[in-house]
Amino acid sequence: MVLPPIRIAPSLLSCDFARIGAEVERVEGAGGDWHHVDVMDGHFVPNLTIGPPVVRKIHAVAKHPLDVHLMITDPSEYARPFARAGAHVLTFHVETCPTTDRAREVVHVFREEGVPEVGVALNPDTPVERVAALLDDVDLVLVMSVFPGFGGQEFMPEVLPKTRWLREQGYAGHVEMDGGLNEATLPLCAAAGADVLVSGSALFRAPDMRAAIASFRRAAEKAREEAR
Ligand code: DX5
Ligand code: ZN
Repeated sequence: MVLPPIRIAPSLLSCDFARIGAEVERVEGAGGDWHHVDVMDGHFVPNLTIGPPVVRKIHAVAKHPLDVHLMITDPSEYARPFARAGAHVLTFHVETCPTTDRAREVVHVFREEGVPEVGVALNPDTPVERVAALLDDVDLVLVMSVFPGFGGQEFMPEVLPKTRWLREQGYAGHVEMDGGLNEATLPLCAAAGADVLVSGSALFRAPDMRAAIASFRRAAEKAREEAR
């Protein structure tokens, strides 16, 4: 199976929000592929971040796609404002849906609103089988490697079998991993089959973001190659 190329997605959650436009440009100048945008509602997760007006402003300065990760209780309710704000990938958490049918409805609503790529996310304690019946419906599966809510947490290697399982099922879409990715943990994700690698604190704290992204990409490509 041909996997999508490795994409590095710096998480703007770790940027300087007072200078967000300049930070978006810095990420692009440093070679980031997608902008990962974390939306939290203070309900699905115990933290609050940004909403559609800020996403719209990010979109206005960004040249690269916005990968919007909705950590919100009612994703279909907010599909339209996020779609209009310029989300390229719009990802909701499967835990917000009591049934697979409901999750399919959310995917449908996102598509109706014109979202180019729809993703479904899994918390670390949610079994990957919860998305098994959705794999034909989504463009991306996000395997969380920390409990969502905050940047700077430690990577949970016990979620890696979920990524491997998705590829074993023949899933050829995007598999994204998010939380605690750094020089040491990101090769594990790539070896397991992930192609979209989100990193917040490790990249924004790096003395040279450009060098860090280049080295993340090299490490991921090497790990993928070695795992073949
Ligand atoms: C966590 C967010 C992540 C976060 C990752 O809830 O979904 O995207 O920004 O940050 P790091 O890379 O610092 O774990
Ligand atoms: Zn995220």
